[in-house]
Amino acid sequence: MNNEQLENIKVELLDDIKNAKSLKDLVGIKVNAFGKSGSISSLSKGMRDLSPEDRPKFGAMINELKTIIEETLKSKEIELENAELKAKLEHEQIDITEPSKGIEVGALHPIADVIDRLTDICVDMGFSVVEGPEIESDYYNFEAMNIPKNHPSRDMQDTFFITDEILLRSQTSAVQAREMEVRKPPFKIICPGKTYRNDSDATHSPVFHQLEGLVVDENISMADLKSMLTILMRRLYGDDTKIRFRPSFFPFTEPSIEVDVSCPSCHGKGCNVCKGTGMLELLGAGVVNPKVLEMSGIDSKKYRGFAFGFGLDRTAMILDGINNIRNLYRNDIRFLEQMK
Ligand code: PHE
Repeated sequence: MNNEQLENIKVELLDDIKNAKSLKDLVGIKVNAFGKSGSISSLSKGMRDLSPEDRPKFGAMINELKTIIEETLKSKEIELENAELKAKLEHEQIDITEPSKGIEVGALHPIADVIDRLTDICVDMGFSVVEGPEIESDYYNFEAMNIPKNHPSRDMQDTFFITDEILLRSQTSAVQAREMEVRKPPFKIICPGKTYRNDSDATHSPVFHQLEGLVVDENISMADLKSMLTILMRRLYGDDTKIRFRPSFFPFTEPSIEVDVSCPSCHGKGCNVCKGTGMLELLGAGVVNPKVLEMSGIDSKKYRGFAFGFGLDRTAMILDGINNIRNLYRNDIRFLEQMK
């Protein structure tokens, strides 16, 4: 081993480092220099053959070489890292001028849309939104609504009973008594939600939706109900909508009415949406029966109320021109896409 050998190893390694193209190349060079049988390691091993006088001098030279190679490797490593990062950033650059693929925009389900619209209108009028349970007791669904057991009007609502006392609510009116028990008049509430009846054809589904409204205050009259519903309908279906009030019967309202609106698709001329009649039946309503107020602990001498119950599926079908109620529940993406 001599100076020349050492010098050759140094030149060779520095040259290799200079020409390295990647961090992987550098790892190879490190092994070639410092690995078990690497060039610098062999130099150290060769020290054995030197005379004791030469050893310190050579030892120092080898150490110096090690330092030089290590430092050069380090700075090359930094250089290569930066270059790789730069290349990566350039490669991953986003071309903001490239035309976009377009974003798929979803749409609200027609029922959700109608709930939103009606809720917005009612909240504007000062109503609070409440919810009630879909699994309900016979008491709230029927008895507190002045429909005792064996009352013939129970037949109007073909109910899914779970036990004798528990059922799937057949009307959102069930929420009325619940709210009257806990609220102090005056109050105005609406309750949108699912309702259930054993009924199924093109316009009836076993699960459907209603929106219940209830106002309790002093001096409430039929005139308040009529004017409020007129405003509500016109905001929903347009200012030229005609409204017809027909006398009806519900055990929980007295007097009771049913409310029709001029068909929004033919404006009253008659078409297949309204089956040629020009009008569509949309909701039941009336002045709350004093018995119902009393049962829930409200003084019927001081307070009166009015209530209304919208069929939301019908409302949505009319608004969106849907002819079969089942379309609302099939979750067919092609149908839902038309709602955009
Ligand atoms: N609950 C009645 C129904 O489902 C509708 C209604 C609600 C009528 C409130 C009057 C008052 O048919």
